[in-house]
Amino acid sequence: MPVPSPTAWPIVGNSLEYKKNPPLYLQHLASTYGDVCRFQLGRNPCYLFSHPDAIREILVTQAKHLGRSMGYEWMKTFLGSGLLTSSGETHQRRRRLAQPAFRNSRIDAYAPNMLTTTQKWIATWQHGDKLDIHQEMMRLALTIIGQAMFHENLSKLVVEIGEAVDVFMRYWQSNFSPIAKLMHALPLRLNREFNEAKTMFYQRMEAIVQNHREQGTDEGDFLSMLLLAQDDEGGAALSNKEVVEELVTITIAGHETTANALSWSWYLLASHPEMAAQVEEEVDRELAGKPPTVADLERLTYCTAVFKESMRLYPPAWSVGRCAINDITLANVKVPAGSMIYVSPYLVHRDARWWPQPERFMPKRWINGQHSEQPKYSYLPFGAGKHQCIGERFAMLEGILLMALVVQKWRFELDPEHEVTPEAFITLRPKNGIKVTLQARCS
Ligand code: HEM
Repeated sequence: MPVPSPTAWPIVGNSLEYKKNPPLYLQHLASTYGDVCRFQLGRNPCYLFSHPDAIREILVTQAKHLGRSMGYEWMKTFLGSGLLTSSGETHQRRRRLAQPAFRNSRIDAYAPNMLTTTQKWIATWQHGDKLDIHQEMMRLALTIIGQAMFHENLSKLVVEIGEAVDVFMRYWQSNFSPIAKLMHALPLRLNREFNEAKTMFYQRMEAIVQNHREQGTDEGDFLSMLLLAQDDEGGAALSNKEVVEELVTITIAGHETTANALSWSWYLLASHPEMAAQVEEEVDRELAGKPPTVADLERLTYCTAVFKESMRLYPPAWSVGRCAINDITLANVKVPAGSMIYVSPYLVHRDARWWPQPERFMPKRWINGQHSEQPKYSYLPFGAGKHQCIGERFAMLEGILLMALVVQKWRFELDPEHEVTPEAFITLRPKNGIKVTLQARCS
């Protein structure tokens, strides 16, 4: 039976409709054509699978027959062949080398640093300040990742790096144009900005690697572990170039996603004061004014529920793509070699078959195992299978600790003049940020 599909235009396929609002377009496809459908981005055939059983096949059981989709290939222009973009044996080797830095015990040891950095950050806030809480979260998360992963104070670089990441996102997005190759070859402003941003970023990271090599100390962090990793002959397992690629990858993947998850959490809490009050009540009761620690996590059940529920509604990694290396059958559908295969956490997280009242923000879904009835792959903010997010525990720890710490002192009031809407780049960001006024909580 042919796979249902919308009419595709010559050359552009369905790119124009897709580009207007990618998550909504995927939702439209799934509601019109069902759990499997075919569409076209440019000339590339794409298959969208939205049933949890198919998702398990794609990400877990048949994963070894699938490579990374073209979206990841485009990321290689700024990430190189790091953990997030590599596949096959290169990926396996890199994952093996990076894994020790992400052991639970190691991640938990990063917590005091996360807290100190956040405490210093929010100490600069004043009652009545108007700020973009999304930008604050981006910069704070970047500072945290630099300190935890390579003992480097990135606070002086946050603006520069933040701007570079914005340029990378715009450059990545420009690949959707049917004349992207031509555009990238012309002396356009975006290309110039991209090259400058990339040069700056790589120079900063190379300097950090050089500095660590010279000091030669084992800080027990991600960078030290990469530098000390050895191959079977006792030589360095990773070249300088490979180490830098991993640093760039971790810096970007490790702050952009968590910052978005936190930004959406603040937005949802500010729009639902009754739930914000429950977070405050829990934090006041469980912490009694003390800063949170890893040991408190288990008891911060409502904070955890809020963080999970905001990633359900606004999954930072809203789409995950693969590519069929050979012809393959997935969910009883024959997918030809070279096709792109899409799974969208955004789509499956808002599917009414698994999530009653899917559009509603309801943290209580996550309390007392209420969500445990749902099929396993109906919730996957961190992906699944061999590419499952290596930083999941780091992100959960950072998200919950930071939420509890901030809520002890601050409340956010949304600017009623500023409309908050999601914008899908590689991650799901709030378009034009989230403008708030700071309200100090009386203590
Ligand atoms: C809320 C925060 C985060 C979310 C929602 C998130 C989401 C994801 C998802 C969905 C994937 C799988 C991509 C795929 O299957 O193709 C992934 C992979 C990855 N993430 Fe995260 N992530 C988060 C935080 C982090 C952090 C804090 C780090 C590092 C400190 C990190 C580093 C990575 C890396 C290196 C990969 C590639 C793993 C591999 O392919 O082996 N992420 N992330």
